[in-house]
Amino acid sequence: MTEDKNQQAPENPSERIRKAFEFEFERFSDSPETLLAAEDQLKKLLDLEVKFLGKKSELAAQKKMIGNIDPKLRRDFALTFQNLEKHIEQSIDDKRLRLETFVLRARVARESIDVTIPGRRPRPGHLHPITLMRQRIEDIFVSLGYAVEDDREIETDFYNFDALNIPEGHPARDPQDTFYTTDGFALRSQTSTVQIHAMQRRGAPVRMIAPGRVFRRDTPDPTHNPMFYQVEGLCVDRGITMAHLKGTLAEFVHRLFGPQTKTRFRPSYFPFTEPSAEVDYSCFSCGGPGCRICKWSGWIELGGSGMVHPNVLRAANVDTEEFTGFAFGLGIDRTCARIYQLDDIRLLFENDVRFLEQFR
Ligand code: FA5
Repeated sequence: MTEDKNQQAPENPSERIRKAFEFEFERFSDSPETLLAAEDQLKKLLDLEVKFLGKKSELAAQKKMIGNIDPKLRRDFALTFQNLEKHIEQSIDDKRLRLETFVLRARVARESIDVTIPGRRPRPGHLHPITLMRQRIEDIFVSLGYAVEDDREIETDFYNFDALNIPEGHPARDPQDTFYTTDGFALRSQTSTVQIHAMQRRGAPVRMIAPGRVFRRDTPDPTHNPMFYQVEGLCVDRGITMAHLKGTLAEFVHRLFGPQTKTRFRPSYFPFTEPSAEVDYSCFSCGGPGCRICKWSGWIELGGSGMVHPNVLRAANVDTEEFTGFAFGLGIDRTCARIYQLDDIRLLFENDVRFLEQFR
């Protein structure tokens, strides 16, 4: 005989479990906003499955109790739990399928490449106009048998001034005032410093050019920058005369601007050359009558030049009885500005990409 307490069916807890499940299940969405959210929901769905259908779930515990129920009521009781279990399983499976489909589609969309979308054109870099100018100058002198020297930008007074026949107190130091560091070093104010290094290193005879940056305490304006580029030229050998200097620079401007280009030499003064001359070339645009580019003079300044002063040769241990030489120094920035018809050399260092892109 069945005991009294089993005569009455205990309250069926299936409704409570169903409500608890529905409450938690509602928080799952069919269309999560992101792939990450969908992946997160899939993980949480697994937790939900364990909680409501796992071995330690309340449903599993209730199922174990069925044997204690009055046999007359047992069938209904079991059926209710069976239905609830099916409902939970079905709900979770449906949701999982939807979430997995969403994840799959999102992954495919993320990883797929649409070959029909127009490509983004890469913006290749290009050389700066000063570099282009420097390379043109280098090519010409290399073809004339000159070596290209690259030397230091920080110098001692000896190389920047004394060895170039500009002793302390000499007025020629003023226009080339530069930027000094604490330990007696200074930023070089002209590439003429390389004359001394090259002669010390190579001895005589020597033929070299030295392009590079120089620094001066010049106030910026359309033709001045405190940092600019020069190219130095030096030729020391037996029997070198002013005629070689004139011939070399004439050949240089012929190759740079064309064979019709003329040169003219105006007497000048540089402490490290004697005699000295400023070099001009006939305007590459108008050829002489005058135009905006040559400021209506027909001539454009190239730079300074002259025969190397014997004191300079001596400072570099070159025998002045045996060797003579010529030197010249050209401003790259101003030549570049003339060629590209720029009104202001400061444009070259403003780093405005719209300006620089024109020199591709
Ligand atoms: C010299 O610097 C001499 N060392 C040149 C030289 C070399 C003469 C060898 C004789 C023998 P100068 O100070 O004139 O010379 O400068 C030469 C060129 O540098 C000028 O023609 C000009 O084109 C350029 N230049 C001078 N100052 C500036 C500046 N502040 N900004 C841009 N370019 C400049």
